[in-house]
Amino acid sequence: MKNERGGWGSKVAFIFAAAGSAVGLGNIWRFPYQTGMNGGAAFVFVYLIAVFLIGLVVFLAEVSMGRMTKKNPVGAFKQIKPKGPWFLVGILGVFTAVMILSYYGVIAGWTLGYAVKSIRGDFSHKLTEEFVQNMFVHFSSNIGLNLILFSLFILITVLVVSLGIKGGIEKLTKILMPMLFIILIYLSIRAVLFEGASKGLAFYLKPDFTKINSRVILFAITQAFFSLSLGMGTIMTYGSYISDEDYLPSSALWVVSLDTFVAIIAGLVIFPTLFTIPGMSPQQGPALVFIVLPVVFSKIPGGAIFGFLFFLLLVIAALTSTISLLEVPVAYLIDEKKWKRKKAAIAVGVLSFIFGVPSILANVKGNFFSNLPIFKKDFLSIMDLLWGNISLLLGGFLITIFVGYVWGADKAIKEITKNGKKFKLAGLWKIFIKYFVPVVLFVILLTYVF
Ligand code: TRP
Repeated sequence: MKNERGGWGSKVAFIFAAAGSAVGLGNIWRFPYQTGMNGGAAFVFVYLIAVFLIGLVVFLAEVSMGRMTKKNPVGAFKQIKPKGPWFLVGILGVFTAVMILSYYGVIAGWTLGYAVKSIRGDFSHKLTEEFVQNMFVHFSSNIGLNLILFSLFILITVLVVSLGIKGGIEKLTKILMPMLFIILIYLSIRAVLFEGASKGLAFYLKPDFTKINSRVILFAITQAFFSLSLGMGTIMTYGSYISDEDYLPSSALWVVSLDTFVAIIAGLVIFPTLFTIPGMSPQQGPALVFIVLPVVFSKIPGGAIFGFLFFLLLVIAALTSTISLLEVPVAYLIDEKKWKRKKAAIAVGVLSFIFGVPSILANVKGNFFSNLPIFKKDFLSIMDLLWGNISLLLGGFLITIFVGYVWGADKAIKEITKNGKKFKLAGLWKIFIKYFVPVVLFVILLTYVF
């Protein structure tokens, strides 16, 4: 290992780790509920377009910036443009990482709790939707329990990040990612074979194009950013550990495809199963996984195991994502402030724990944080809106402007084609990064403001 930064052992290691970052609650919890609330297959259709026309383009921009500078987001902007305020985009990314980690960790804690509930057999007898609804409210408003689960999750994340790039993240993702794929594919095959699954399949896969409107497009693009870990320098940071020998476009395509594949398969688990329960609506919102699935598991043969595997999967997926979130501020503190990795990981872990506590209280009815004045929303939703949506799109927009114009698309292409590599779509990518993507993101950002 060269220094305190470290580096990936191989090309495959980057793909695994970046896919581990991308694949998370975003795919298995957020994607299905967004699909359910935004018209089913029509949303899936727009989402796929957003992933490949916008996500992949921004992904490549972040990765090439990271590898060229070999720095954290703040250092990367500073190196390319030492003067001026551009490094603030990096600072925004570092800050966004801490904030997303704070509430993401709370939901990750829920998955941990639900995995335990499953093994205990809480879902193995017949349950009504109402019962499980109450169970969820009861569970999520248990402050003590949630503090334990949340701190446990942050603790594991801090531990892995402390061990460094090769020792920690790489080893863990190499084992966990394939496991995750296998479990998910198995579950989707089971689900598709359920009696009555065809209704769910139609909802999920047969698009009604009249349902596509500005809201669907807005949420699809936001979902693409969140799911691909774009817009705040996570992918830039992971890209900074890639070797100069690797071919960036194929790495990018791999990660983006794997992430999208997992989201699509997750939907294949949820919708066919969901529609086999009479009267159950896909429009459950963020509660979909935690309220509806236990009912589903309770009504199918082998449901306890089915449920345990599913929530275990969520725990694994969430962990590889929280690791990547923590890695951004840690890389910043190591590079720019010369901190030791361990000290940085602990300090940021404590900070996001403190910011996460109000997100736990947000689920307690009648608590101040469950219905904030002015916003008229709970703290967790506000955090997700500010950091998981607006900040990522803003960061993504600024990154495309920076790469397209300040650094220059041609210089980025030079980085991509380093060592005699060919990039056939360079011309197309240049047009996208300079014109198409920034314009679309700008329009989307305006719709948030107005
Ligand atoms: N992409 C992850 C998911 O789908 C979450 C995540 C990890 C993330 N790092 C990120 C989201 C950086 C936005 C930015 O669950």
